[in-house]
Amino acid sequence: MSERVAIVTGAGQGIGRGIAERLAADGLRVVVAEVNRTTGEESTNAIVNAGGSAFFQHTDVTDETSVAALIDTTVERYGRIDVLVNNVGGSINIPITEITASKWREIVDVNLTGTFLCAQRARRYLSQQPNASIVNVASLHALHTVPGMTAYAAAKGGILSLTRSLALEYAPTVRVNVIIPGLIETEAWFQAVQDVEKARKHRLGFHPLGRLGKPEDVAGVVAFLTGPDAAFLTGVALPVDGGMTLQLYRSGAED
Ligand SMILES: NC(=O)c1ccc[n+]([C@@H]2O[C@H](COP(=O)([O-])OP(=O)(O)OC[C@H]3O[C@@H](n4cnc5c(N)ncnc54)[C@H](O)[C@@H]3O)[C@@H](O)[C@H]2O)c1
Repeated sequence: MSERVAIVTGAGQGIGRGIAERLAADGLRVVVAEVNRTTGEESTNAIVNAGGSAFFQHTDVTDETSVAALIDTTVERYGRIDVLVNNVGGSINIPITEITASKWREIVDVNLTGTFLCAQRARRYLSQQPNASIVNVASLHALHTVPGMTAYAAAKGGILSLTRSLALEYAPTVRVNVIIPGLIETEAWFQAVQDVEKARKHRLGFHPLGRLGKPEDVAGVVAFLTGPDAAFLTGVALPVDGGMTLQLYRSGAED
């Protein structure tokens, strides 16, 4: 096991859990930063039972005090921070004319402000380690969207801009990149659709690679971005979307 330490936010389920498990399997010590105690503990136990090192830190990334406790506890327990993955996010489908200011703030807070707070607080410790890096998690909605997703699209677009600013301000000591997942099958996705098989079939053609993504697809890219092979890479926005952003028309729908 290496001495390297990774914090993964929202690691209780879905993409975050996949990332936490992958980094732990690669030998990093992992902090599962999660607002849901039950899933956070489950995820941590799964890593430890598989032979990895991890602890659960109850965290609300939208709350400054909670983020400060996350960073301080990580340094107290593991002595350093090498990797921060800002994975927490959430969406809601409400037309712009109907969304309230408080719902808008909630979506912007959970996606964008949480990313800013964690990146700001962790910088001091990240900058003490060689090849330290941050990976932020955006969404295709940052590039192309659909009606009703305004707050989420704006917040995820903000993550792309925030990543560029952080990459410049944190250079030369900390690299900062952002990934743009396509449709990834996670608990959130399963809950959002009524008929999983129907929804999966409908969306297959969205991805030229012929399938939806899995948390492991995203986790592998995060492992690369935070590892030695990406040591000269910063400020990059990398789609992990099976080619979804390439298509002018959905496959088979051009006529
Ligand atoms: N699943 C997809 O298809 C997809 C596509 C594009 C982008 N994304 C992005 O990837 C990320 C992960 O998505 P997912 O599908 O795994 O989501 P998910 O809802 O399954 O998991 C998100 C996790 O974050 C936790 N969380 C929520 N608010 C929190 C807070 N304030 N503090 C700490 N933890 C909090 C939740 O409890 C949950 O465990 C999100 O940023 C999402 O926007 C997902």
